Amino acid sequence: MKAVVYQGPEDIAVTDVPDARIEDPNDILVRITTTNICGSDLHMYEGRTSFETGRTFGHENMGEVVEVGDAVRKVKVGEYVVLPFNVSCGFCKNCERGLTNYCLTMQPEPSFAGAAFGFADMGPYQGGQAELLRVPYGDFMALRLGEDAAERQTDYVMLADIFPTGYHATEMAGVKPGDQTVIMGGGPVGLMAAYSAILKGAGRVWVVDRHPDRLALAEKIGAIPIDDSAQDPVEVIKDATLGLGADNGCECVGYQAHDPQGNEDGALTLNTLIDAVRFTGKIGCVGVFVPSDPGGREKQRAGELEAEGKLALDFGMMWFKGQTIGTGQCPVKKYNRALRDLIAGGRAHPGFIVSHELPLDRAPEAYRNFDRREKGWTKVVLHP
Ligand SMILES: NC(=O)c1ccc[n+]([C@@H]2O[C@H](COP(=O)([O-])OP(=O)(O)OC[C@H]3O[C@@H](n4cnc5c(N)ncnc54)[C@H](O)[C@@H]3O)[C@@H](O)[C@H]2O)c1
Ligand SMILES: [Zn+2]
Ligand SMILES: [Zn+2]
Repeated sequence: MKAVVYQGPEDIAVTDVPDARIEDPNDILVRITTTNICGSDLHMYEGRTSFETGRTFGHENMGEVVEVGDAVRKVKVGEYVVLPFNVSCGFCKNCERGLTNYCLTMQPEPSFAGAAFGFADMGPYQGGQAELLRVPYGDFMALRLGEDAAERQTDYVMLADIFPTGYHATEMAGVKPGDQTVIMGGGPVGLMAAYSAILKGAGRVWVVDRHPDRLALAEKIGAIPIDDSAQDPVEVIKDATLGLGADNGCECVGYQAHDPQGNEDGALTLNTLIDAVRFTGKIGCVGVFVPSDPGGREKQRAGELEAEGKLALDFGMMWFKGQTIGTGQCPVKKYNRALRDLIAGGRAHPGFIVSHELPLDRAPEAYRNFDRREKGWTKVVLHP
């Protein structure tokens, strides 16, 4: 089968790899019809993680079930399903508590938790930017879709990761009706966080970025764009809130945060939030941060420290303000069913962020443009 294979920093190829197949009686095999490129793929694509060469990317996957293992009871051949990016068992201590983002069974390193398709440090699972995907514990993992699945793939595929992840950011930030919420990052995840805050009835939502196309999408869904190459976001937010700051905030950028000139500083967005969010406010941090960053030594302001995943955080101010920060991968299964039903009921259209639908063969060009945040490349979906 064809798959998007990582060959080294900024080098991928669509090549033939052995067909994915049923390996365990609980597996299902999915013919991928839609698979997204994510900002998380870009950290790996740029060589800024431990992702191994020869592996396949792709953790935002949906498709049609083509085979099921002998122990599978619920999922049927022919059904359209969307798969959480987290690979999880459903029966370990963490999965039982709903923390499928920290599954203990599927992570091979005994002192770690959590697994994912096509992801650095998250187990050996191949990604779905390929014609076929093996899905462990298919009955637990798969979210089945209704009759409109094939026609509305650009909406439903967002349930694999970024719609639940954006929603999770607002949950960790405690966003309630009427709240004033600031979102750092207008990429796909930031836009989904803004969309979720608006769905929840937030009174005012700001999105901070410097790409006009992304800020225009934020405005389109009813958020207030802040271009940080022209304005100081903290000043704008304090001016609008009697100097108090936003009720809460979401970090949707991650450790490769940079200033508008491109200078990286992994602490930049979190420090902006600590400043822009009021006393006792909550911050939901879904942007990815890593325990070791191979490129951090030369690329980051904190250099040596950053290479070990250490940030120069304004912790004193955060403590003084009594703020809390929630962190980590999103437990997709906690939200995907409810969000699916919002889509099915016509209440949510997360596919509004899709700028490009391309065949799998064009993955190299798609990665290049999305990685450079070229104008108009807000979210790419691939159709194998
Ligand atoms: N926690 C999870 O489960 C989860 C899931 C999916 C993605 N992620 C992570 O979320 C982050 C965002 O993903 P994405 O797909 O939206 O990526 P993206 O890289 O396309 O978007 C990030 C945006 O942040 C902007 N940005 C950079 N520095 C900034 C700054 N200092 N201030 C404001 N904006 C800034 C960029 O211009 C860009 O538009 C990534 O780190 C990704 O790995 C986490
Ligand atoms: Zn993703
Ligand atoms: Zn588990």
